[in-house]
Amino acid sequence: MQRQVLITGGNSGIGYEMAAACVDQGDHVIIASRDLAKSQAAAETIAQEAATTGQIGTIEALALDLGDLADVDRFAARLGQRLDRLDVAILNAGLFTNGTRALGNGLEAMIGIMHFGHFRLMQGLRELLVATPGARVVVTASVAHKLGRLRFETFDAPKKHWTAIQAYAQAKLANILFTRELAARLGEHDVVVNCFHPGAIATGIWTELPGPIRKLFGTVLTDTRTGADTGIWLACDDAARQHQGQYLVGRKPASISRSAGDSDLARRLWRDTEQRLEALTQTG
Ligand SMILES: NC(=O)c1ccc[n+]([C@@H]2O[C@H](COP(=O)([O-])OP(=O)(O)OC[C@H]3O[C@@H](n4cnc5c(N)ncnc54)[C@H](OP(=O)(O)O)[C@@H]3O)[C@@H](O)[C@H]2O)c1
Repeated sequence: MQRQVLITGGNSGIGYEMAAACVDQGDHVIIASRDLAKSQAAAETIAQEAATTGQIGTIEALALDLGDLADVDRFAARLGQRLDRLDVAILNAGLFTNGTRALGNGLEAMIGIMHFGHFRLMQGLRELLVATPGARVVVTASVAHKLGRLRFETFDAPKKHWTAIQAYAQAKLANILFTRELAARLGEHDVVVNCFHPGAIATGIWTELPGPIRKLFGTVLTDTRTGADTGIWLACDDAARQHQGQYLVGRKPASISRSAGDSDLARRLWRDTEQRLEALTQTG
């Protein structure tokens, strides 16, 4: 049976490489990002490259804005109607903003998209995932979480952040806490949930970094295929199923910050996120 794989942010960077690898191994891949034209072009390129090497996987592009909760709900409902299984959900979409800004729903953009958007998506796709034997969730986290601290009062108050780096690090910390708590909640359903750090990778995510920092940072960045390796392994390799609720670097469990390992904090974030999402989706 062909696996159904969803990848948020699959039209570029690390997500693109994960999409191409899943198509190469025969999966049906759905890439979902805001820019549909860019996603369709990416899907076409991946399909053409797969065809030239005789691969049998398939790919399609759908529009999804993780910063718009109503759009996330519509997207999840659409997938729920179309699919009868979801083997892999790769929660990868992300952004770095120069300075902090608010989404239309009032949430700070980085936590709003990388944490709240993905959380809402998983609420919508939960049934599909737990109904799929051996399902996997893979989250693209970051070593940057080690610079992060959860300051709940900043979630809907971007200006309370001192720097954009702190807001990004907080969102990546939330990714790890979410991974650990989701694994605890879905483990009994035969779903494995893990996250990974790709390395410092040359992608579009750094375009908003101020010029001189981007230039300096650019000298240490490596390629997207290397960055995607652990994510591909978590999504595709049988051996990866031994891990649950882990943070991996280079296909191996790696150390996380004290905050990221704090299970009380993970539960508090979960409850806080549920409550805020309920309030936000009730008020539209
Ligand atoms: N590059 C690194 O060094 C590095 C290091 C550690 C972790 N990461 C993580 O890796 C992940 C992928 O980033 P990348 O480096 O590959 O950057 P990228 O090439 O810029 O990819 C980001 C992806 O996210 C999508 N996206 C952004 N906002 C979105 C939204 N509101 N709704 C849906 N999709 C959205 C983008 O597509 P659209 O613009 O079309 O929406 C794009 O496909 C991120 O979670 C990032 O935090 C990256």
